[in-house]
Amino acid sequence: MKDIPKNIKLRSRRINKTIKGSIDNIVINKRLFNRVANHYDSLLVKYWMKKFNKSVLGLGFKKESRILDISCGTGELLLELQKRGMSNLYGIDISEEMLNKARKKLQASNEESQHLTLTKGDVHELPYPDSSFDDVISTEAFHHYHHQEKALSEMKRVCKQGGRIIIVDVDFGIFNPLLVKLEPGCVKVNTKQEMVNLFKEAGLRDYEQKKEFIFSFMTIARK
Ligand SMILES: C[S@@+](CC[C@H](N)C(=O)[O-])C[C@H]1O[C@@H](n2cnc3c(N)ncnc32)[C@H](O)[C@@H]1O
Repeated sequence: MKDIPKNIKLRSRRINKTIKGSIDNIVINKRLFNRVANHYDSLLVKYWMKKFNKSVLGLGFKKESRILDISCGTGELLLELQKRGMSNLYGIDISEEMLNKARKKLQASNEESQHLTLTKGDVHELPYPDSSFDDVISTEAFHHYHHQEKALSEMKRVCKQGGRIIIVDVDFGIFNPLLVKLEPGCVKVNTKQEMVNLFKEAGLRDYEQKKEFIFSFMTIARK
């Protein structure tokens, strides 16, 4: 009997720490990307981001597919999908400043026949009903998510049965742990095997991986 109150205290302290860690991480990421949004589309960053988006664009999409770009940032991938005539595009990001940039860019080039929705929100609690999208994408952002299993399960939840989950993230090999130390808001950079494990645990099927750019790889699977 004596142990019970002690255990409860310990567990709640641990839970509090986890919740605090999650809130801190969201705040750090929001602050960081709100601050850099104005410079994000500079030539160098654009060049870097294009490398990540290239692998996704190479996959091919049906024109009428409902596509969700999670952590869409300033909307570069959505812009490319828009140019290719995709008519059902959704973007979500926690940074309002990144979204403002995306809004300006995408609204200017959006055709009347194309549907585009940009929403402020967190990957860990996606504000969409189950089975809403044919393709659920995240590029150059997964390492910022503080609870990667939860993020992936949310991506799976909003994906239609048979739809695709597509994640492209950074890969600096043996220097991955260094990125966690150096980049604010970076939680964990996964190896290819770790990513496969996450996909397996999430119950995704037909997964495959592609490496087209030396500093990234893509993992794709179906729900
Ligand atoms: C390096 S940028 C990549 C942006 C874009 N995908 C691209 O390739 O240009 C990372 C993005 O992830 C977003 N982000 C970080 N944590 C997030 C979270 N918990 N939920 C949604 N977006 C998040 C940031 O606001 C930022 O826009």
